[in-house]
Formats: sequence, structure tokens, C-alpha cells
Amino acid sequence: MDKTLKNPERRALLKTLGAATAASAGVGLLPGCGRGKNTGEENLAFAEIPHGLDGRHHLPEGYSADILLRWGDPLAAGAGPFDPAVLNAAEQERRFGYNNDFIAFMPLDHDAGPGGVDRHSVSRNSERGLLCVNHEYTQPHLMFSGYSGEYSVSAEHVAVEQAACGHTVVEIEKTAGGWRPVVGSPYNRRITLNTEMDIVGPAAGDSRLQTAADPSGARVFGTVGNCAGGKTPWGTVLIAEEGFGSAFQGDPDSIADPVEARNHHTFGIAPDNRNWGEHDRRFDIAVEPNEPNRFGWMVELAPYDPASRPRKLTNLGRFVHEGFTLVCKPGQPVAAYGGDDGIEKCVYKYVSRRPYRPGDFAHNRQLLTDGTLYAARFDENGSGRWLPLVFGEGPLTAENGFRNQADVLIDARRAAKLAGATPMDRPEDVETNPVNDCTYVMLTKNKKRDADETDAANPRPRNTAGHVLEIVPPGENGRRDHTSDTFQWNTFLLGGNPNAEDPRERGAYGEQRPGSISAHGWFACPDNVAFDSRGNMWIATDGCERFGFHDGLWAMATEGERRALPKHFFGCPRGAELCGPEFTPDGKTLFVSVQHPASDGDSTFDNPLHRWPDNDPALPPRPAVLAIRRKDGKLIGS
Ligand code: FEO
Ligand code: CA
Ligand code: CA
Repeated sequence: MDKTLKNPERRALLKTLGAATAASAGVGLLPGCGRGKNTGEENLAFAEIPHGLDGRHHLPEGYSADILLRWGDPLAAGAGPFDPAVLNAAEQERRFGYNNDFIAFMPLDHDAGPGGVDRHSVSRNSERGLLCVNHEYTQPHLMFSGYSGEYSVSAEHVAVEQAACGHTVVEIEKTAGGWRPVVGSPYNRRITLNTEMDIVGPAAGDSRLQTAADPSGARVFGTVGNCAGGKTPWGTVLIAEEGFGSAFQGDPDSIADPVEARNHHTFGIAPDNRNWGEHDRRFDIAVEPNEPNRFGWMVELAPYDPASRPRKLTNLGRFVHEGFTLVCKPGQPVAAYGGDDGIEKCVYKYVSRRPYRPGDFAHNRQLLTDGTLYAARFDENGSGRWLPLVFGEGPLTAENGFRNQADVLIDARRAAKLAGATPMDRPEDVETNPVNDCTYVMLTKNKKRDADETDAANPRPRNTAGHVLEIVPPGENGRRDHTSDTFQWNTFLLGGNPNAEDPRERGAYGEQRPGSISAHGWFACPDNVAFDSRGNMWIATDGCERFGFHDGLWAMATEGERRALPKHFFGCPRGAELCGPEFTPDGKTLFVSVQHPASDGDSTFDNPLHRWPDNDPALPPRPAVLAIRRKDGKLIGS
């Protein structure tokens, strides 16, 4: 029986969401997940921090944070302290990049050295490892002196920007004095817009990926827009290419082929984008109309092998990738979930053709290059279907402009919509809880959804605060079938203030018991998500400042009485969003990415809003990764 409908407040809320919603998407309706125990006194017993807004970061009593890595910190041996006045592209390539985002902690086995890739891949060492960090984008007005506008003024600055994007692999170790990077480690590596990589899968070599510099269509320089990502149990990280369109300049309507023009439009390529095209012609679509088709993929990187070439995995489709996270069960195909972070874009799942075999690294490394991509349809009655994006099936045929499977993957957005997938309120991270085996979709916001465009899965018009959906694959907690093409779903929570006057803006958490959420427990705009080993959900936000307080991290149970009742754990310095929450395997360190601190209003390098984290008048504000621990060394959040 649906106990939530007995509650008059719940009934009122559901009424405001519309009748179609009430049937399926009430917060706390439980078609499978949420019935377990995850509530003891010790669970998430930290002292909640208040909402606030200032130039500092904030943690609960009893916790401390090491400032582990900041933009410009040295990685290569001999690279000295950061001096922004003498920064050039060659220096930047030896240093930590800008606007850190996704974080993967990849343990290093105690005894295996370089070459012990398989040993490292299964290690649970929580005191030494490789930190693999995305660098999403650059902000020249906060990186260089003398700027008033937001675009680079010289080819030299563009080159620094391109060297500051991409990804960092850096060895880190926990010492008596805290976590620190191992400068000069042979594992340390920067991936930039100049790193050569392969393109693999059905779109590799396709004519739409060929350029003057690469007639093979299978080798590309660099990656950009690297937002969130994922990890594999075979020792690789998955790096998303998200907002790549803004790197390209030009007018899509100047392209003769209407399919290609529409393709470039959907990714926001425009004449007034950042001006890289003026200084680096491959980012000018009038010169290289196919270059954008070589971005918008998931990239797989093998950090334990510093000489390895990254590869772009075209099987996972091309869109504004937030990330892809895996569910790997012995003897079953791998399922991988991802979001397309665009307004009214879709949620995706990939299922490998062959099964995952623990320990068979050569076999497992091919699982992401041979399988099927699906997009999600969320039905009004709380069920859902994964729709295969396969050339020749359904509408994905020549009549609709698809020549082959390469076209389906290059234009995955169009394929998903044609197949009938549900347009969502900006899907960000999609990740599976290792304890209850349900999958959670962060939907950050969508102010453009009109009242007559709402549906059960996107119930709010002008959705300013976002929401979280729970996907429940068939089966029982811990033994769900992520390869099935059907699922159940429900609304886990609605972001925003639970006491907002306008019922359409009102947040909804847990079972909506009066007083069950504190004044600081609510948040808006869920973006990245991580789970601890007990199945608690940790949500990082991007958009709370519009509601009057800092972005940060909120933790909550997914099961039991305190299901979907967040507690506020971390607050960012003003102007920053929080990204990349990542636990060490022992749960005693939590890494977080503070991205674009002091980034609002008229803030510039010369006159910043604040200078976090250094607070040194000689240094600008710097994006940074923090390593959070309990002062007593115990489990984070317990
Ligand atoms: Fe880079 Fe979707 O946040
Ligand atoms: Ca994100
Ligand atoms: Ca983000």
C-alpha cells in the first residue's frame, strides 16, 4: 500500500505536481528500493553545517581538509612553485590544470611497481594512489592579468588554456601531515588538447570524423569539456567530453549539409563562441567542419600505464556527456549509465555484448567497444523502457537520414528523440548505489520547461531547483538486473526550499514529515553524486547561490526512515560549484573538487571577489581539490 498518500501534506504536494505525477512519481513511493535498513544512530551523525555564503570553505566540527592540489601546482620534477606572471603553455603542461571536476582515486598496490597494472586495479590501498582529475574549462579573465572580457586576447593565452584543459594523473600519498602529491612521480601525466588519442568503435574512421590533419578519422588530438566520468574494475577511468561546443567557432548555417548544420547547432557552435578558432584554425568550423564530430565522446584512460594512449569510445554515443558509471557483475554483461547535460536531453545506458569476467583484464578491456546503447523512456505510470539505438531498428533508418551505426552514434541525441526517449531536465550524474543496487539520476534544472511540457518524470514547470529520480531495475536489492530493457522509477526528491511559498518551487524530501529536514538540509541543483560503502548518497550541487547560499555537499540515506532527508556536510567558497566527490576504498578520506571559486559578477584576476584558497595578494583564486578527513581518523559521515 502507498503509505505516502495517507499523509495530507504529501497529498497536497502531489496535487500541485499534477494528476499524472501523482500516479507514479510521488517522493518516497517505493517500487523496490527504500525498504532496507540504513538508519542507525551512527549513520550520518555529523554535526550539520549551516547554509552560508562567504570566501571560505566549510566543514562539520571534527573534520579537516588538506588543500591537496590547486591550479598551477607542480606535477613534474623541477617545476617550481606556481607563478602566474610567467605561465606559458609548456609550464602549464607540467602543472595541475584549471577548473578541476571529476575525481577518481585509483589505488596503488603496496608491492607492485609500474607494470603491475592488474595488481593495482584490484588494490584497496587507501593511503597511496593515483588521483585522476578532469579539468573542465578555462576562464582567461581569472587566469591572466589585464582582462575585462572573457575571451583570450592572444594565441599564447589560447595555448595556455588548451594546456590547462583535459585531465591530470598524479600520484598522491597520505603522510603523518596529511595527503600530498608526489611531485615527479613517473605516473604523473597531463592530458591536454594536444594529447594524441585513438578513436575506436563503430564511428572510428567514418567520413564524418575525417579532417585534413587526420584523413584516417581515427586519431585525434586532445579532449575538452571534461566534466564528470567513471571508473572501471579493469584499471581505467572514463572521462566525459561535456560542453565541447563552446570550443568551436563558426556559423553552422554556413555548412552546406543540413544534417551537419543541425548537428553543430545542437551543440551550441556559434560565431560568437570563445575565440579559439581565430588562433587555432581547427576550432573554426569554416576550416574544419568535421573537427567537432571528433569531440563529444567518452574517453578511456589507463592511468596505471603512463605511456598508454587514451581512446575515445564511440559505442557510448556522442552528446554532452556528463559521465558514465558502470555496474559490473561477474558473468553478466556490463551496464553503464550516463546523462546528456542539455535542456530536454536524455538519459542513456550501454550494455556490453559479452559478460564481465573478474580478473580477465584482456577480455574486460574490450567490453566498452562491443555493445548496445539505449536511451530511457520514463512512462507516466512509473515504469520505463530502454530504447535501443541501433541502425535499421525503428525510426533509425535511411529515411530519417542515418547512413549507418556511425551516424546513429554521432547523432545520438537525434536518434534518442526519434526512438521516443524522454526529454529530461538536464541529466547530470547517473550512478548506482552499491548497496541497494538502484540507480539515481541527478537532474540539475530546466528553467525552460513550460507548464504544458511537464510529465511525470519532469513534473515542474520552470524547474529552477532540479530533482533526483530513482531507477529500479527488475530484481531485489543487491541482485537487480541492470541489463534488462525495462525498469520502474520514482521521484527520490525534489530540490529547493521545502517551505517555498510557490508550490511549484517547493522542495520535497523524505516522507515530508514536519520538522524532518533542518533549515540547512535542503539544497538545489543536484549535479554530481557519490555513494559511500554503507549506501549513503552524497550529492554535490551547482546552483545554490541563486537560493542565497553556497554550493556544496549534502549526504542522505537512501533506505529506511531517513531516506531522502539530506544533511549539509560541505560548503564552497563563494562563486564555486562542487564536483567530483570521491571516497577512498576505506571510506576515511573524501576528495572534493572546488571548481571556479570567486567566479561571479565582475570578478577578474586583477580584482577577484576573493583569493581562496591561498588568500595571498600575489595569487588569484584557484580551483582546488581538497582531501577531507575526520580528525579522529574514523569513517567519514559516521
Ligand atoms: Fe559540467 Fe554537467 O556539469
Ligand atoms: Ca556536472
Ligand atoms: Ca558540474
